[in-house]
Amino acid sequence: MASDPPNTRPASAPSSKISSYALGSSDRERRRLMKQGELFRELLADAFRSAGIGPGMRVLDIGSGAGDVAMLAAELVGPAGSVVGLDRDPGSVAWATKRVAEAAMANIHFRTAEFNEFTDPQPFDALVGRFILLYLPDPTATLRHLAHVLRSGAAIAFFEPDFTVPSRVFPEMPEFERCGAWIQEALRRSGARTDMGMRLYATYRDAGFIDTETSVSHLSGCGIAREMAEYLTETLRSVLPKLELYGIATREEVQIDTLTERVLAAGLAADPQWVGTRSIAAWAKKP
Ligand SMILES: C[S@@+](CC[C@H](N)C(=O)[O-])C[C@H]1O[C@@H](n2cnc3c(N)ncnc32)[C@H](O)[C@@H]1O
Repeated sequence: MASDPPNTRPASAPSSKISSYALGSSDRERRRLMKQGELFRELLADAFRSAGIGPGMRVLDIGSGAGDVAMLAAELVGPAGSVVGLDRDPGSVAWATKRVAEAAMANIHFRTAEFNEFTDPQPFDALVGRFILLYLPDPTATLRHLAHVLRSGAAIAFFEPDFTVPSRVFPEMPEFERCGAWIQEALRRSGARTDMGMRLYATYRDAGFIDTETSVSHLSGCGIAREMAEYLTETLRSVLPKLELYGIATREEVQIDTLTERVLAAGLAADPQWVGTRSIAAWAKKP
């Protein structure tokens, strides 16, 4: 694989596990993932439909977190299909399991597992994930390993960010832009590939998948809605320990407990049009 450009190279190269996962593991982070899941739901659904995820399929979702991607996949595959969600974090697996039980979604099961150690005797028809490959030390190796649990002709579909194209706000809103820059830097310094969206084709090709296609999407809007200000705040809250650890910003600079209200006030004053970081979806096939 080509070497990483300097501004996107992971700061560390952990061996088989994420040693410095930037977002942590707490109920508050899981609620943030659910908020994120709602915001990106339709964009992800479009990508999954393009990938051919549909009725009757058996789907593997890696990095299932609070369960949103698995739940969307389960809707697309319907009662004749099924979904397995994988996560290494037992707390997230318990959270997601409780959620699908409460929603009476019988065709989803979550398992606690490391991706690189996962095996299953029954082949899957599709492998999917959102905002996950960027955190892996070696995405190609993980996809090569997981290819063993896919049938021939199976679909693969991932939805990943590309922070190399900055978000835009007009008129300028420094509060908003500074938060975005802090989040991106915390991810980068923690070892995440912040340009993973642009690496999908190369990663799939190196892992042996064929017929890759892509699409690009952004969240966008006019004015700053409360849900967007809260999402920004909660994302920053999740990376706050990393901001301090890497000396990117101090708690005093961030003032997390008043951030939502400050962003909303600035949003009211600027009343901006904005375009968020771009996400890239790519889908392909196992030969
Ligand atoms: C950013 S969250 C994404 C959640 C979900 N895909 C979504 O879009 O809502 C990443 C999740 O992947 C899990 N994870 C990261 N690396 C993993 C690995 N190597 N094996 C298993 N789970 C992993 C983390 O525990 C975390 O819950």
